[in-house]
Parts: sequence; structure tokens; C-alpha cells
Amino acid sequence: MPTMDDSRKSREDLLREVEQLVERIRALETAEAARVEADAVAAAERHHLRQLIRLHERERQTVAYEIHDGLAQHLAAAQFQFQAFVEMRSRDPDQADRAFEAGLRLLADGLEEARRLIANLRPPVLEELGVIAALDDLFWQWRQQYDLEIEFVHRGRIGRIAPPLETAIYRMVQEGLTNARRHSHSRRVRVVLRRRDRLVQLSIRDWGKGFDPDRVGPGRFGLRGIRERAELLGGTVSIRSRPGRGTRIVVDLPLVENWPEDD
Ligand SMILES: Nc1ncnc2c1ncn2[C@@H]1O[C@H](COP(=O)(O)OP(=O)(O)OP(=O)(O)O)[C@@H](O)[C@H]1O
Ligand SMILES: [Mg+2]
Repeated sequence: MPTMDDSRKSREDLLREVEQLVERIRALETAEAARVEADAVAAAERHHLRQLIRLHERERQTVAYEIHDGLAQHLAAAQFQFQAFVEMRSRDPDQADRAFEAGLRLLADGLEEARRLIANLRPPVLEELGVIAALDDLFWQWRQQYDLEIEFVHRGRIGRIAPPLETAIYRMVQEGLTNARRHSHSRRVRVVLRRRDRLVQLSIRDWGKGFDPDRVGPGRFGLRGIRERAELLGGTVSIRSRPGRGTRIVVDLPLVENWPEDD
């Protein structure tokens, strides 16, 4: 016959067991939450890596196209002229001379094209003097080439920032300007670069025909590239545009801490 003492004891045992069980469940829950979080971090890293690979792949493709359409064409045409020179040398020296000169001109064009490609890959001024000087230089070139009014405003001391940020800003501005020129039909573009605490904000604006950012067709990579670059650097992009109302792209990029050149 169990006494009162016995039943109290077994109740206390039971309670202890339940408490232990609850503790174990909590520990399991914590471990599961940590595992889910680790999985999410790994998935985000895989996503970033895939984006980085895609971006690099596309850039290589663009360079390949440019070499194919520009440099390789000039060299092939020069080769053709020099071959003509060899074939005509004894038969028709005057024509052979003309072919030779044409070949030389094509080589000079090829050389200029090669220089342009190299400067475009990694503009020396970006590396040496930073993003403001590089943008000033870019806008100067654009003003020479196109009938476009480009206003450039920079606020806050930008100085030298982490090289990946400088390159990203430069590429984004190139794309924004190219889009404004090709698609917007605006004669005016305004680029603003601001530094605020630990953030750089880039804004590219035109007053052109605008578009619907949610309805960009496939096979378009410019705006996607801007988004991907920003995302890779932990930043955000907002594209505000409506048909007939112009376009404004705003990119916020956190400054990278402890980068040797980051002052
Ligand atoms: N500033 C702008 N004004 C008007 N339309 C624009 C502007 N920027 C982009 N668009 C529209 O959005 C589309 C997508 O732009 P995106 O830069 O992604 O591709 P793209 O310029 O057509 O090609 P690319 O891959 O060479 O950049 C464009 O085709 C154009 O219709
Ligand atoms: Mg584009």
C-alpha cells in the first residue's frame, strides 16, 4: 500500500523528469535553430558565389565580343591589306603602296582600340586617383563624344574607398549613362555621389521617357548587373521610373571597414 510520502516522491520524480525533458527539448530546439541559421548563411553564400561567377562570366563575354567586333576586325582587315600588298608588289606597285598604307592605318586603329579596351577594363585613373577623378574623366570623355549634358555632384568627403566599391560605382555609372543615352532620349543626366557615415550613395537621374522597371525583358543585363554588384557588396538598389517621367537609380553601398585604402 503506497504511503503519502511515496506518492509525493514519485510526483517530484515525475516533475523532475518532465523538467529534464523540457530542457532537452529546448536544447534540441536551439540546436535546430542554429542549424537552420547556418543553412541559411550557407545558402546566402552559395547565392552570392553564383552571382559573382555569373557577373564575371558576363564580363568576360562582353570583353570577348568587344575584341571580336573591334580589335580582331581591325587586325583581320590589316592582314588582308598586307596580303594584297605582297601579291601586288611586282604587278602594280602603286596599288600595292596604297594597300600597305591602308594596312598601317588599320593597325593604328587596332592599337587605339586595344588601348581603349584596356582602359575600359581597369581605368588607370581609377586605380591612381580614385573614383571622383575617374568619374570626372569619364564625364569629360562623354561630353566630347555625345551631345549630353552631364552634371556631377559629390557631397561629403569621398576620398579613397575600398577598390571593389570604386570599381562598382564606376561600372554602375557607365551603365546608367549608357542607358540614359541609348534609351531615355534625355539630353540631361545628373549623377550624385554622397558619403554619409558608413555609406556611399550613388544616384543617376535622367529626364527622359522612362520605362516600367518591372517589365524588363530577358537578355538585358545592364540593370541586372547594377543590382548584382550592389547585392554582392551588401548594398541596395532602387529604380524609380515611369513611362514619360524620367528615371532615377539610387544605390546605397555600405563602406567596407578596415580596407587598407579605406580612410
Ligand atoms: N534611363 C532609361 N530610360 C528609359 N528606359 C530605360 C532606361 N534604362 C533602362 N531602360 C529600359 O530598360 C531596359 C533594360 O535596361 P538594361 O540596361 O538592363 O538593358 P539594355 O540597356 O537594353 O541592354 P544591356 O544588357 O546592353 O544593358 C532597356 O532595354 C530599356 O528599355
Ligand atoms: Mg543597359
